[in-house]
Amino acid sequence: MTAPARPDVVETIAAVRGHVADARRAGQSIGLVPTMGALHEGHRSLIRRARERSGYVVVSIFVNPTQFVAGEDLDSYPRTLEADADACGRIGTDLVFAPSVEVMYRRDAVTTVQVSGLTETLCGPHRPGHFEGVTTVVSKLFNIVQPDVAFFGQKDAQQAVVLRKMVEDLDMPIEVEVCPTVREADGLAMSSRNAYLSPEQRQQAVSLFRALEGARQAIADGQRDAATLIARMRETLQSAGPCRIDYVDVVHPATLEPIDPVTCPVLIALAVRIGQSRLIDNIVVDPAMPA
Ligand code: PAF
Repeated sequence: MTAPARPDVVETIAAVRGHVADARRAGQSIGLVPTMGALHEGHRSLIRRARERSGYVVVSIFVNPTQFVAGEDLDSYPRTLEADADACGRIGTDLVFAPSVEVMYRRDAVTTVQVSGLTETLCGPHRPGHFEGVTTVVSKLFNIVQPDVAFFGQKDAQQAVVLRKMVEDLDMPIEVEVCPTVREADGLAMSSRNAYLSPEQRQQAVSLFRALEGARQAIADGQRDAATLIARMRETLQSAGPCRIDYVDVVHPATLEPIDPVTCPVLIALAVRIGQSRLIDNIVVDPAMPA
């Protein structure tokens, strides 16, 4: 059996542009999966989807410092480039772009991209500046790679909504495809930050999924009062063990405005700190659909 081909791993913008230009000349469409590395099954599902839809698949791996708020885990964020490049090769990535901070950010850069409104709710108030860091780095990646389609996970629902709006407002000729959340067998959403959980915290972390599924069931049983749903979810989270709830919200999936009562499809989203880990998760529930 032959070993899977390792993709080209490049660090400079010129090298990416060269590879992508060759692929375009060969008539291939370009798919981009932006990541911060420490790849898990959630990322791999995005790459597989990119492989299905694109002639040439680029995965970017960059732990973007500007989206970490002071005191967050920038320094301890897992950096596993070798293993990530091998994993990319196994699932058919053509190019890995792994720039340094110096390559991505000029020392004298003063330009950022900001999407207002949508970034001022849910995670926004708890992570000031985070989304500006995301939209700026993703704009840069879009300019560098110029993909036809970019793939993001539904687990970061707010990020996906914000990026879609950015693409629309700035007339970027890029399709944003949002792919389903990938979960562990017990329901915990896959995340690079799950690695920080102790065995006890890992067990406790299933409470996020249980809270969301409880809300889904309550809606299926006829509950429409968002305040009641939120109170029950908070109770599920708090009774599972020590945690700090950043928010539990029921909002419109596109505008992120609070919805109460639940008379249309809603995004139920939460963010909870367990130990050192800040975990997020969400589901979309349509009250008109049977359970
Ligand atoms: O979702 C992520 O991993 C990051 O926010 C992204 C989109 C790669 C930007 O750094």
